[in-house]
Amino acid sequence: MGHLSAQLHRVCVPWQGLLLTASLLTFWNPPTSAQLTIESVPSNAAEGKEVLLLARNLPQDTTGFNWHKGGSVDSTRQITGYVIATQLTTRGPAYSGRETVYPNASLLIQNVTLNDTGFYTLQVITANLVNTEATGQFRVYQLNQVAQPEVQATSTTVTENKDSVNLTCSTNDTEISIKWFFNSQNILSSERIKLFQDNRTLRIDPVKREDAGQYYCEVSNPISVNQSDPIMLIVKYTESSGLSGGAIAGIVIGVLAGMALIAALVVYFLHSRKTGRASDQRDLTEHKLSDSNHTQDHSDNSPNKMNEVTYSSLNFTGQQPRQPTSASSSPTTTDVIYSEVKMK
Ligand SMILES: *[C@@H]1O[C@H](CO)[C@@H](O)[C@H](O)[C@H]1NC(C)=O
Ligand SMILES: *[C@@H]1O[C@H](CO)[C@@H](O)[C@H](O)[C@H]1NC(C)=O
Ligand SMILES: *[C@@H]1O[C@H](CO)[C@@H](O)[C@H](O)[C@H]1NC(C)=O
Ligand SMILES: *[C@@H]1O[C@H](CO)[C@@H](O)[C@H](O)[C@H]1NC(C)=O
Ligand SMILES: *[C@@H]1O[C@H](CO)[C@@H](O)[C@H](O)[C@H]1NC(C)=O
Ligand SMILES: *[C@@H]1O[C@H](CO)[C@@H](O)[C@H](O)[C@H]1NC(C)=O
Ligand SMILES: *[C@@H]1O[C@H](CO)[C@@H](O)[C@H](O)[C@H]1NC(C)=O
Repeated sequence: MGHLSAQLHRVCVPWQGLLLTASLLTFWNPPTSAQLTIESVPSNAAEGKEVLLLARNLPQDTTGFNWHKGGSVDSTRQITGYVIATQLTTRGPAYSGRETVYPNASLLIQNVTLNDTGFYTLQVITANLVNTEATGQFRVYQLNQVAQPEVQATSTTVTENKDSVNLTCSTNDTEISIKWFFNSQNILSSERIKLFQDNRTLRIDPVKREDAGQYYCEVSNPISVNQSDPIMLIVKYTESSGLSGGAIAGIVIGVLAGMALIAALVVYFLHSRKTGRASDQRDLTEHKLSDSNHTQDHSDNSPNKMNEVTYSSLNFTGQQPRQPTSASSSPTTTDVIYSEVKMK
């Protein structure tokens, strides 16, 4: 260093000028002569993961290359070789079965072990037979066996169609994968069941009776796996039926509409008795008319629900015991109760 500054003093080049010259020279370097380098991705890898040794600035006239373990070209530690013209790969003494070489000279090492830590040297053979070399390195760090995780639930007793539930897989381990199991089956996300935060949280929204059962989570890293104790999810549901809320609403409306219809029929029947015998044909027409009016009155954006209502009202007209009711008040009651049910 002292020698260099002495020389610089003698030729009287100012430092600034020298730095400028140096940076301009770097800038003017044609890209084709950029130096071959090795970049490790990542440079620090966990046991069991993979590492890609990227060969940057491979000479354009490359005809083949060899990878070696260690900081220099050493045929006793050759991993692999590749000849571009023939696309032939050769294996050296240090090949472990986990290495893949690409035509662009990059080397992939899978399932890395602690023993893979260290230097790797790429030797490139070019058409003019001038070999170039570059060395890269990476480190592999040890993983711990994962500890037993724990499942936490926002609630373990929930109500069907009303509640949602979050299950959280609690663990202090990092660099892990999480899987969920329901009655020993792997859970995949679906419309109602969603996974968040790299599977740490499992959300069921809304809960259905078929979600009742045992849940546990499984935490793993490349070297170990551990499972939580299961937790039990209890789902309460309305005892009355195996029907959906929509169907229940349909029945409620159906019963009321049926009662209204019966009342209307009773009034109509009494009326026809007074004015003369009504034919079966007319009775049928009246019935149909009543149904279609009903459908129109309540037509909204849920046609399925309306179908159920129409169906149920027909059904219940036949099944309900005839009860005389005030014809004028019943349809109003139907409307009010229907809209209440719909609001839910
Ligand atoms: C890496 O390890 C996994 C799991 O142990 C195994 O299934 C896979 O075949 C291994 N891959 C290689 C290239 O050895
Ligand atoms: C070489 O090829 C591999 C596999 O196709 C790719 O992942 C890698 O990025 C390439 N390397 C370079 C330096 O382009
Ligand atoms: C570690 O790697 C070297 C070669 O680099 C090999 O000779 C040795 O057997 C390996 N040790 C283990 C424990 O795999
Ligand atoms: C799970 O972790 C616990 C400690 O939290 C440990 O005692 C147990 O051996 C682990 N089980 C497995 C299968 O690794
Ligand atoms: C349940 O999980 C979701 C998604 O992570 C979150 O948005 C929500 O706040 C959680 N609810 C509760 C009660 O923890
Ligand atoms: C995580 O670490 C804390 C503090 O050491 C401990 O209280 C807790 O039980 C741990 N959680 C799990 C799931 O191991
Ligand atoms: C999340 O769970 C799914 C389904 O079990 C699984 O395929 C995926 O690998 C998991 N992801 C993580 C980051 O653990």
